[in-house]
Amino acid sequence: MERTFLMVKPDGVQRNLVGEIVSRFERKGFQLVGAKLMHVSRELAEQHYAEHKERPFFGELVSFITSSPVFAMVWEGEDVIATARKMMGTTNPAEAAPGTIRGDYGVEMSRNIIHGSDSPESAKREIALFFSEDEALTYDKAV
Ligand code: CMP
Repeated sequence: MERTFLMVKPDGVQRNLVGEIVSRFERKGFQLVGAKLMHVSRELAEQHYAEHKERPFFGELVSFITSSPVFAMVWEGEDVIATARKMMGTTNPAEAAPGTIRGDYGVEMSRNIIHGSDSPESAKREIALFFSEDEALTYDKAV
């Protein structure tokens, strides 16, 4: 079964959107297997966003994600990586379709509420960066 890493960013936590976001993925039918409210250290932020290191917005990205707590999650389900990205909407909330998380709650590229892994390789890397093996659980879904 596929897993993905999702993270409500500081703006989403500050705006009390954690419950709303968790609820969307629960109602869709995905299974929450790991979750924690945490501060992201500068070192973790730089590792997580390593692919953007040369971009002009890298400094802003790192200082934003380390500015206040994030809600980090691991979700499991069939095709969860691509489906979660659809549910999040495009990176720029100004262009995201209504009905998506960013389309419904965001207006700024740098404050786009949620991060989600973009591929199986990213998911594996990001889950390992944020969660130890015993923090991401395995349990049967009864319903
Ligand atoms: P995320 O999915 O977390 O991955 C990288 C982040 O960089 C992205 O969401 C945006 O929040 C941010 N980002 C991408 N492009 C820009 C940009 N042009 N200016 C500022 N932030 C950006």
